[in-house]
Amino acid sequence: MTTIEAVQGDITRERVDAIVNAANSSLLGGGGVDGAIHRRGGPAILEDCRKLRASHYGKGLATGRAVATTAGNLDARWVIHTVGPVYSTTEDRSGLLASCYRESLRVADELGARTVAFPAVSAGVYGWPIEDAARIAVQTVRDTETAVEEVRFVLFDERAFTAFAEQVDKPG
Ligand code: AR6
Repeated sequence: MTTIEAVQGDITRERVDAIVNAANSSLLGGGGVDGAIHRRGGPAILEDCRKLRASHYGKGLATGRAVATTAGNLDARWVIHTVGPVYSTTEDRSGLLASCYRESLRVADELGARTVAFPAVSAGVYGWPIEDAARIAVQTVRDTETAVEEVRFVLFDERAFTAFAEQVDKPG
């Protein structure tokens, strides 16, 4: 049984086994939560990302996939990088967004992580409407079989927090 909760805050401060990064396929950093994680975690994360690019992901990490690195100076042990889809009004990409959560939990299971913090993947620069992003995120975690004991959604702003809290409070 996985406990799911939503809190408002900065994910880089979370004391959990793994925090998930809303990355891009280059894995080489960016703005938003990605920038915050690299800034606070220090250069070890980028170093690991570069190694992964060289060894396994020459063309970058595909949308909907996830991969783990060290967490550098963060309190977490690992960062799980996932690449959300850019929101589209003409194409339904919700399967790819769900895949980010499923794949991240699969990687967490491989690592043996028991507590995992997620941001609202795709809901910033990638433009996904927050209520829909929250619904997909919470539903997917509920539907995924995993040994992770606690999933914490960490939302930066009040609106995102409210959207996730509503979904978490809904009977699954
Ligand atoms: N803690 C928790 N949530 C945060 C934090 C933080 N420190 N900082 C931002 N958020 P985004 P995306 C929220 O744009 O939409 C990057 O440049 C933010 O308010 O970080 O998946 C990557 O390199 C929003 O609700 O990710 C990619 O190029 C959520 O995190 C691209 O952005 C996600 O916003 C990915 O875009």
